[in-house]
Amino acid sequence: MSETTHISPSNSSDTTAIVMSGIRPTGYLHLGNYFGAIRNYIKMQDEFTCYFMVADLHSLTTHPDTKSLKANVQRVLAENIACGLDPDKACLYCQSHVYETGELYLYLNMLAYLGELEKTVTFKEKARQHPDNVNAGLLTYPVLQTADIIMHRASLVPVGKDQEQHLEMARNFVKRFNHRYGEVFPEPQAFNYQQHLVKVPGLDGSGKMSKSENDMATLYFADDDELIRKKVMKAKTDSGPTAPNSIKPDYIENIFLLMKLVSASDVYEHYDKAFNEANIRYGDLKKQLAEDMIRFIAPIREKSTTILTDEKYLKGIMEKGAEMAGESAAKTMKLVREAIGLNYY
Ligand code: TRP
Repeated sequence: MSETTHISPSNSSDTTAIVMSGIRPTGYLHLGNYFGAIRNYIKMQDEFTCYFMVADLHSLTTHPDTKSLKANVQRVLAENIACGLDPDKACLYCQSHVYETGELYLYLNMLAYLGELEKTVTFKEKARQHPDNVNAGLLTYPVLQTADIIMHRASLVPVGKDQEQHLEMARNFVKRFNHRYGEVFPEPQAFNYQQHLVKVPGLDGSGKMSKSENDMATLYFADDDELIRKKVMKAKTDSGPTAPNSIKPDYIENIFLLMKLVSASDVYEHYDKAFNEANIRYGDLKKQLAEDMIRFIAPIREKSTTILTDEKYLKGIMEKGAEMAGESAAKTMKLVREAIGLNYY
């Protein structure tokens, strides 16, 4: 299928490359989001021209009830900023504030065929989950996503594996546009720093940390210290290895993986050695991990709470982002209208 561009630090300082990604406003970021995506964004904002967007319009495809939309958008912005996304380094904006998106989406819809849209894995999944709401917006979700990306003529799109099919479709739409109307857009590629894409395991020994999995197995940045302790202490273990240098069962490997992400390296080494000597107390390991998790999560939670209470600050961020993204969109749309031949006056 499609390729992900892996860029190593030595060839990644092309500041002219444009990066674009969208963040769903589902609220409540967790550790999986951080190590799987946000940490990449934070690195990229120092190296590229970046546009990071809250995909509020996309959420309308599956969430017709918009009562909690504002709070969700504010939360996702606050949490991402608390994690280190910097509105002075990257353009942080809301999809719905760039009105040109709807226009570009319309043009792209003429280049998207029913057959390919119906074959999209994410569409089929959502149609199966919500058979009563298989709307055209859901069908053309990848078209809207393409509009987001190419609005800034971005070529690098930091996304996870689950988005690679959408990126492949985006390339097809771009090829058709360029072929039909003239070269306007670069072909976007999925992107990650190879060594930075970490799959964070859940605390229940199975699967990855994600919103749709068991909530007790997922650590959220909104969790308070007590809840973090409770979740970590409940993580699955056993009575320990019976012989030195045993192979770690998956659920134990997962706990060590989490420890590697948030604990000091000597702490990790200490417990790894204890495991290899078949002399480990999982209770101690989990107590240590819980405290290190709290040290990692608490400052982000507190920063996010502070940001969330400051509506004026958040509004300012959104306005600044809308202005920057709007400028970029206006330039692109001028080229698009000219290319299509919609320049009668
Ligand atoms: N579809 C993406 C997701 O589910 C979100 C998204 C919307 C996006 N627009 C985008 C991602 C543009 C990358 C680029 O996570």
